[in-house]
Amino acid sequence: MTASGAGPGRGKPWDGRFAEGADPTAEAFTSSLSFDRRLWPHDIRGSAAWARALERAGLLDPAELAAIDKGLEAVRDELESGRFTFRPELEDIHMNVERRLIELTGPVGGKLHTGRSRNDQIALDERLYLRDILGDVDGGLQRAQAALLAQAERHRDAAMPGYTHLQRAQPVLLAHHLLAYVFMFQRDRERFADCATRVNILPLGSAALAGAAFPIDRETLARDLGFSAASANSMDAVADRDYVLEFLAAAAIFGMHGSRLAADLTLWATAEFGFVDFSDAFATGSSIMPQKKNPDVAELIRGKTGRLYGNLTAVLTIMKGLPLTYNSDMQEDKEPLFDTVDTLEAVLGVLPPMLESLTFRVDRMRSAAGTSYSTATDLADYLVRKGLPFREAHEIVGRTVRHGLETGKELSDLTVEELSRFSPLIDKDVLAALTVELVSGGRRR
Ligand code: ARG
Repeated sequence: MTASGAGPGRGKPWDGRFAEGADPTAEAFTSSLSFDRRLWPHDIRGSAAWARALERAGLLDPAELAAIDKGLEAVRDELESGRFTFRPELEDIHMNVERRLIELTGPVGGKLHTGRSRNDQIALDERLYLRDILGDVDGGLQRAQAALLAQAERHRDAAMPGYTHLQRAQPVLLAHHLLAYVFMFQRDRERFADCATRVNILPLGSAALAGAAFPIDRETLARDLGFSAASANSMDAVADRDYVLEFLAAAAIFGMHGSRLAADLTLWATAEFGFVDFSDAFATGSSIMPQKKNPDVAELIRGKTGRLYGNLTAVLTIMKGLPLTYNSDMQEDKEPLFDTVDTLEAVLGVLPPMLESLTFRVDRMRSAAGTSYSTATDLADYLVRKGLPFREAHEIVGRTVRHGLETGKELSDLTVEELSRFSPLIDKDVLAALTVELVSGGRRR
């Protein structure tokens, strides 16, 4: 007996080996049930497929398989309806499901864990879970792309200043800017899809580490569960979590993209810029300043990126020093994984409708696009087209801009007469060559 009085025989699979029960603090400390319970649908699906594989291998007869199947269905019903009694002393979701199965079916349920370990079972559950999640994430990213595309369509000809160093650089189209994010999200989708190809490998049959000692047809089992192949090395299959890391990395990169979009929009929503209005539905007010309307949704999309980075860093750090193969440290991959999944779902839920609700102030964007000498590069390009080497053109336009600054005039305020004083190549066709409409939409995209 332990100091706390907890004795053996509380239904753990290893009661046979242990003379003493677990200390309550140790039991609570090692339990993952509070968070891994969300894997139950995948755990049951994997167990049902494993039972079929055991039957094919002659380790269960058809009646036993039917009994296990029925038992697993009953466990599923209890979990689905909320009638299932979770037992934290049974550590994790795998042992909770198995124990309930044995209660419902009697000893035949005890055959399910033949040739299987929680080590390959958890790798299986995670892969099945991630496969579902990856489908949802792609749907969310597609909706975000669609919302950006719709705004770009709605503002096909709206010009705005393009920035480098957050200084006005050259006129661009709002659509050009918005579509930049469509391409970023496209690569995010490709990264998640690429991750999915490596997630979609069957680890079951690896057992604890050395492989199952029974003639399991893993190719058939892989097909049964919709995997593209079975893992080739059982030690690799139970020891690595790179499929989790790839997912967390893709999520972190997407988070960075979403954060930059949010940063653009919050900047554009300032009085100083005034390029965009958030709808009331995607903003909040202030508890003290009656006039305030804050772009909280965008700010939190930006802010939540921190957790996505943190979760990636956490799992990288958990994994880095682990000797092969399975170590309990790896149980710590789950909360970061689930937090990233929840964060992605939250961000991808709110981002598309928030984007759709934006009102762009195209008049303000247009007038900002025409100032700060933003067409200077186009004037240099104009001179290049007249035969001047670009470096000379740059120098001439630089002097023209300085003249403008000294006299308080924009390039568009200068007459052809004034402009031609800087180069005889400047002719009256220069005016048409420097309109914001032409330079933002005409030749660049
Ligand atoms: N709950 C464990 C995890 O999340 C899986 C079980 C393996 N545990 C073990 N002691 N062999 O990784």
